[in-house]
Amino acid sequence: MSEQSNIPKEEGLDHSLALIQEGYQYIPSRRSKFKSDLFETRLLGQKVVCVGGQEGAATFYDKERFERKGAVPKRIQKSLFGENAIQTLDGEAHEHRKQLFMTLMTEERLQQLAELTREEWRLAASEWAKMNQVVLFEEAQQILCRVACRWAGVPIDAIEVKPLARDFMAMVEAFGAVGPRHQKGRKARKKMEDYFKGLIIEIRHRRMEPIEGTALHKMAWHRDHKEKHLDEHTAAVELINILRPIVAITYYITFGALALFEHDVWKEKLQSGDEESVQMFVQEVRRFYPFAPFLGAKVKNEFEWKGHTFEKGQLVLLDVYGTNHDNRLWEEPYAFNPERFRNWTGGMFDLIPQGGGDYYNGHRCPGEMATIQVMKTSLSFLTNEMIYNVPMDQNLSYSLSRMPTYPESGFIIQGVSIKS
Ligand code: HEM
Repeated sequence: MSEQSNIPKEEGLDHSLALIQEGYQYIPSRRSKFKSDLFETRLLGQKVVCVGGQEGAATFYDKERFERKGAVPKRIQKSLFGENAIQTLDGEAHEHRKQLFMTLMTEERLQQLAELTREEWRLAASEWAKMNQVVLFEEAQQILCRVACRWAGVPIDAIEVKPLARDFMAMVEAFGAVGPRHQKGRKARKKMEDYFKGLIIEIRHRRMEPIEGTALHKMAWHRDHKEKHLDEHTAAVELINILRPIVAITYYITFGALALFEHDVWKEKLQSGDEESVQMFVQEVRRFYPFAPFLGAKVKNEFEWKGHTFEKGQLVLLDVYGTNHDNRLWEEPYAFNPERFRNWTGGMFDLIPQGGGDYYNGHRCPGEMATIQVMKTSLSFLTNEMIYNVPMDQNLSYSLSRMPTYPESGFIIQGVSIKS
């Protein structure tokens, strides 16, 4: 008999419904109930092992043990990621594609991203000063969509930004949904892929000349590990892989605004202009608030871990939300406390809201530094350059069973003015 029976097992035919209903808490609550970093369950008709914690994350990111081929369900590829995207690659093909993404994240490019972000916040906030109230979640999408396009070299003069931002958000909104919300994401992806494929074709026919060094230029002319240009569809998918997640930083900015509202002392610290406080605050927002619930990979070569034999082809989920709230790694994990990041030396597998391990050598999010940069600039703008009120008659709670989630009211602000 294999050793698989040694790990806790959730009995029953299938638990997909429980996963959809319990959302972010599905894996952590079972890890806690079973008092185990791994357990077996059945999801979407197949046996799945869920792992979590620092050691679980390190195991999950071992390239000898896991691969991504066949791990991303079609429904996620057709809405969130796109087919043949970097998220589905392994080995040399992955490493080569990852280099392409990382060349976009130089100091200089990140500095430019910060400047564009500040510029767009200023423009938007001066408009809000003329309005009764605005919903931050709605407005931040549009700001970030303009930032993303400008940074990536995508011309926006001829585009209506509001529907474009909605389409990017629809792809993100689709990942944890079934029914109409999921369908909306698929439709948005199809539309976006067609549009950006068109741009790639224009560039390749020399009818359009994007600025060198931008994502649009790079995706159009990148040669893969076999020296071939990406096909037009894949180039569009990877361009969207830059634009969509920048727009998605909206979730963190909305949560950041909520944290500033609920923790006055941190608002004051950010207002003092102390760089370290901004960094600590942003790290805690990324740790504390839910975004990516878990990640999936398949066993590449059979191995044993904690008395369990992981069989080749087995689907394994890494508990991202639960690891960010693991009480062996974080004291009082359910308290919002940026102070925990003072003198934090940072491990590769403890703070994993955007994945763990190494950027170049694994699947860790290449946009992590960009995310931190955009969050710092945006939250500093909210605290240092804007004045606003937060009306009390709004629902600021967020559901942990909705994936992705954000404050119910979208965070309404009133009486906006720009500090002189
Ligand atoms: C991968 C989260 C922002 C581009 C990932 C992964 C997560 C993640 C959890 C998966 C890691 C894995 O599979 O092991 C986030 C969150 C963001 C964010 C929460 C902020 C809201 C960004 C930004 C960019 C970006 C700003 C680009 C500018 C990517 C790409 C991948 C990825 C291309 C695939 C990497 C690979 O497969 O090697 N992200 N991300 N993300 N992210 Fe992000």
